[in-house]
Amino acid sequence: MQVWGLRRSEGDPALPIQWVQADLTEADSLDSLPFSQLSGLGTLVYTAAASGFNDEAYRAAYVDGLAHLLAILERRQCLPRKLVYVSSTSVYAQSDGSIVDETSPTEPAGFGGRRLLEGEAVALGSKVPGCSIVRLGGIYGPGRTRLLDSVRRGEAVCYDDPVIWTNRIHIQDAARAVIHLAELDDAEEIYLGVDDEPSADGVVKRWLARQLGVPAPPGAEQPPSSTSRRMRSNKRCSNARLRSSGFVPSYPTFREGYGELIKDSVG
Ligand SMILES: NC(=O)c1ccc[n+]([C@@H]2O[C@H](COP(=O)([O-])OP(=O)(O)OC[C@H]3O[C@@H](n4cnc5c(N)ncnc54)[C@H](OP(=O)(O)O)[C@@H]3O)[C@@H](O)[C@H]2O)c1
Repeated sequence: MQVWGLRRSEGDPALPIQWVQADLTEADSLDSLPFSQLSGLGTLVYTAAASGFNDEAYRAAYVDGLAHLLAILERRQCLPRKLVYVSSTSVYAQSDGSIVDETSPTEPAGFGGRRLLEGEAVALGSKVPGCSIVRLGGIYGPGRTRLLDSVRRGEAVCYDDPVIWTNRIHIQDAARAVIHLAELDDAEEIYLGVDDEPSADGVVKRWLARQLGVPAPPGAEQPPSSTSRRMRSNKRCSNARLRSSGFVPSYPTFREGYGELIKDSVG
């Protein structure tokens, strides 16, 4: 399989990827794509992320960038057979700890979720014959250790009252889920990409502290504000549909994923 990677900065030459430098948000910069080599493209995986936490950046990355890319691929007769659009669980407004799946309502209050939903609609409305959306939970793994580092440094606090639910996926499983959906015949339109276990904030942090051999993080003095990102993520996302499509996570819960990261970090 030949893999092309498009980004603005230089790609890692050690990876078995043919890199193309272009800016999805600047339609003209896509004129330099190697179209003669792109006909017969199998799958387009769209994983661009916003450069900042503001509406303009979200619209540019999640909506306009995809629209620009699809338009030029169509014009040059290089549309792929399949599109996998990487979205986020932030399209769900539910923040009361309720269970969420692909059939749950998506009525995001903030610009982030709204722009992602708009991008999903661009993907699903495109002329690419097969399209799947995967809504990922928080990505963690090598190079994505913010939570682990905050517990290690003694900076974390536990939100136990009320319990705040968190949803995550190991970076390798996120990539594996994308490949799984790209290769799946008769894939559905929407999948949640999370591990098997929505986990309470305090349970994860205290488990991490025990594994690291550092003091347990104290309880928070007050709950997060209702508009904070932490509170907005308070839901329990189900991966039942992804699982029943045949996907088996390598890191079914935070314990396997963080356990390996901690083991690797102590050598
Ligand atoms: N991180 C999470 O916890 C999380 C949670 C849920 C969903 N997701 C989703 O997962 C996907 C990837 O997120 P991530 O956190 O892994 O992002 P990331 O590490 O920042 O990667 C984003 C990639 O997109 C490229 N990119 C960004 N803007 C671009 C542009 N205008 N033109 C061309 N390439 C561009 C970046 O390369 P250059 O900077 O070199 O252009 C980078 O390679 C996104 O769809 C995001 O919504 C992430």
